[in-house]
Amino acid sequence: MTTATQYVDRLTATIPDFPTPGILFRDLTPVFADADAFRAIIDELASRFEGRFDAVAGVEARGFLLAAAVAYATHTRLVPIRKAGKLPGEVLREDYGLEYGAAALELRTEQLPAGTRVLILDDVLATGGSCGAAVNLIERAGYEVAGLGLVLELEGLPGRASLSGRDVFSIATAPA
Ligand code: PRP
Ligand code: MG
Repeated sequence: MTTATQYVDRLTATIPDFPTPGILFRDLTPVFADADAFRAIIDELASRFEGRFDAVAGVEARGFLLAAAVAYATHTRLVPIRKAGKLPGEVLREDYGLEYGAAALELRTEQLPAGTRVLILDDVLATGGSCGAAVNLIERAGYEVAGLGLVLELEGLPGRASLSGRDVFSIATAPA
């Protein structure tokens, strides 16, 4: 049987100088486009944190692909952590740095009961800027971070160190 890690190792494409010169882009779309691989990564993320979360938060945009599937598979709540300016109503905002550029993420307040255990999902952990902002948003909203699930973790960047003390699970790793 092919494991989720083997699928990610085999199918992830590496694109030099995208989206800017000097960046080695890891493209997971071939993983998502393979039905067996996608099912394997969703099942792996769900089982790794089984029984420890009541809601799933996906980080826009690529984290949405994972979060919706895990929430459905585990019959848990789903909340989007969106790029700034997309959500109506009262929102919390966190500015953060990216491997290439800067950005801000937002979360609507009062979507979940206080203390809800939230699993944060995203596709790639690079500098940790996106995941760090997501952690801050979940906690500022009054929820508990159950853990962070990633498909691919880039080594040699400060992502994991920046999330020290958190339960960070990555299906596969690759050099940055
Ligand atoms: C990418 C990727 C992760 C993040 C990882 O998202 O999907 O969310 O960067 O980098 P970090 O650990 O340095 O924050 P990006 O915002 O570039 O684009 P997306 O909207 O396509 O997900
Ligand atoms: Mg992203």
